[in-house]
Amino acid sequence: MQKGKELYAGKAKSVYLTDNPDELILLFRNDTSAFDGEKIDQLDRKGMVNNRFNAFIMEKLEAAGIQTHHKQILSDQESLVKNLDMLPIECVVRNISAGSICKRLGVEEGMDLNPSTFEFFLKNDELHDPMINDYHIQSFGWATQAEVEAMKKLTFEVNDVLKALFKGIGLLLVDYKLEFGRYKGELVLGDEFTPDGCRLWDAETRMKMDKDRFRQGLGGVVEAYEEVAHRLGVPGI
Ligand code: TMP
Ligand code: ASP
Repeated sequence: MQKGKELYAGKAKSVYLTDNPDELILLFRNDTSAFDGEKIDQLDRKGMVNNRFNAFIMEKLEAAGIQTHHKQILSDQESLVKNLDMLPIECVVRNISAGSICKRLGVEEGMDLNPSTFEFFLKNDELHDPMINDYHIQSFGWATQAEVEAMKKLTFEVNDVLKALFKGIGLLLVDYKLEFGRYKGELVLGDEFTPDGCRLWDAETRMKMDKDRFRQGLGGVVEAYEEVAHRLGVPGI
């Protein structure tokens, strides 16, 4: 398998073509951004840690019967993935209130949400990823009704698997964001799962172990990701 030209560079990952049109290479860079690219930094080891962390989680999800884009790790910072036709939508599940929902609804951080809540956002940094609803998705043709239902179902299935996984290592899965794409007629998870795209708190101390350490200038960002990886038993970290 040959690495081809760069197809797209996001804020923390780059995507490369391969000689197989069904496969892409994801490069996990050390770049870290927050607030839609307003705050940017380079964090040593982050690309490698996230690449290995992500592969470990994708394998857990596949083992639970959830289809993902992940195929295999290729190097410290690269993984081979399926080439999906991505939907421009972000799916967020929240088990505990934190982040934008606190600002938007004027609620305190740290409230248990029962049931866990779900939100759709449009993937558009210039517009600061506005919240959208099921009707917007269909009215503007971003996905079909069946895909809307599949995104909700799959995002909650991921929640069941990962809430339990993190609970087992003394962490609370507060919230996370997932994106999906079409692949050979099916909707498949097409996103990383790393501490860059979720919130994880220590269950006892409620210490933040995710990208909020970067957003809030708390320091020890990669060290926190590594601590989570060690507790999970992610190989190579
Ligand atoms: P929020 O509180 O900023 O809406 O984010 C909810 C969760 O989703 C949080 O774990 C961060 C993640 N997220 C991203 O990783 N990227 C995004 O663009 C958005 C909107 C959320
Ligand atoms: N991922 C988005 C960004 O990098 C939002 C965030 O995580 O704050 O700007």
